[in-house]
Amino acid sequence: MSFPDIRPRRLRRTPALRRLVEETRVSPAELVLPMFVKEGLTEPRAISSLPGVVQHSRESLRKAAHEAVRAGVGGLMLYGVPANENKDETGSAGLDPDGILNVAIRDVIEEVGDATVVMSDLCLDEFTSHGHCGVLAADGSVDNDATLEIYAEMAVAQATAGAHMLGASGMMDGQIGATRKALDSANFKDTSILAYAAKYAGAFYGPFRQAVESSLQGDRRQYQQDPPNLREALREVDLDVAEGADIVMVKPALPYLDVIAAVRDRVTIPVAAYQVSGEYAMVEAAAANGWVDRERVILESLTSIKRAGAQIILTYWAAEAAQLLRA
Ligand code: PBG
Repeated sequence: MSFPDIRPRRLRRTPALRRLVEETRVSPAELVLPMFVKEGLTEPRAISSLPGVVQHSRESLRKAAHEAVRAGVGGLMLYGVPANENKDETGSAGLDPDGILNVAIRDVIEEVGDATVVMSDLCLDEFTSHGHCGVLAADGSVDNDATLEIYAEMAVAQATAGAHMLGASGMMDGQIGATRKALDSANFKDTSILAYAAKYAGAFYGPFRQAVESSLQGDRRQYQQDPPNLREALREVDLDVAEGADIVMVKPALPYLDVIAAVRDRVTIPVAAYQVSGEYAMVEAAAANGWVDRERVILESLTSIKRAGAQIILTYWAAEAAQLLRA
């Protein structure tokens, strides 16, 4: 018996052939840029573990938001860093309409309006003196249900400031339902929720903690997921979908591609992934040493995250990658 001479290499011979059969293509509109704004700054300040990323002043945030929109990014995710003296046990600066995050949401909305999707971090860790994502019970653990009441108020404050979408990143049980209910009762029925559905308590968030000047001692293992668990992620995703999430997210991204793929198979709503600070920092460090081709690694990593099933990617390279993709 003779077989035809099957040669997969035929389709790889020229750039045009490769382009024709390319299965995954990342576009700028799928990329979301996380941005930090620090209370009281007059100039942007570098973050040493995240080269190229800064803590913005209110003024520089507006300018950078404008530039990111011009580059074509799909959204912005805002994180507020309060002055140290404005952190407290309950994270009250996060609820204050004049707190740094709420002020920044108003600034950015004024700057870019509906030209992109303005998202804000719905979590207390930047605002608490202990750095946890919720308020503490007497025994020092994070009190889930007391935290939900605060998230509810915080959600309304962010929606009032004009955020289009709230990034529920605290990993409290019931947070999506509580947030949805609070938004609906305050007549913010059209403010959407990006659920950090499967967020792992791994070691990839180190540079972020520096970026937000986190006060955290210890870890978040009592509320974020355990890295070895995949089925548990699906349970979290099911709950968030049932509670009214508009988008579900997996975080981190590159070390959890299997989770992204499984979530993608599971749901009919959009799936996002967060290429976190540690993923970014590793590539920047290697590139600074001349060990990898920086731009190629950036694009390859984004392509892999999309190939796994994420149609939205949060990445600190969003604005730059948008430009690279258009070039
Ligand atoms: C919580 C939050 C964190 C990140 C995004 N939202 C920190 C954490 O869970 O400790 C990390 C993102 C990153 O590492 O890039 N507000």
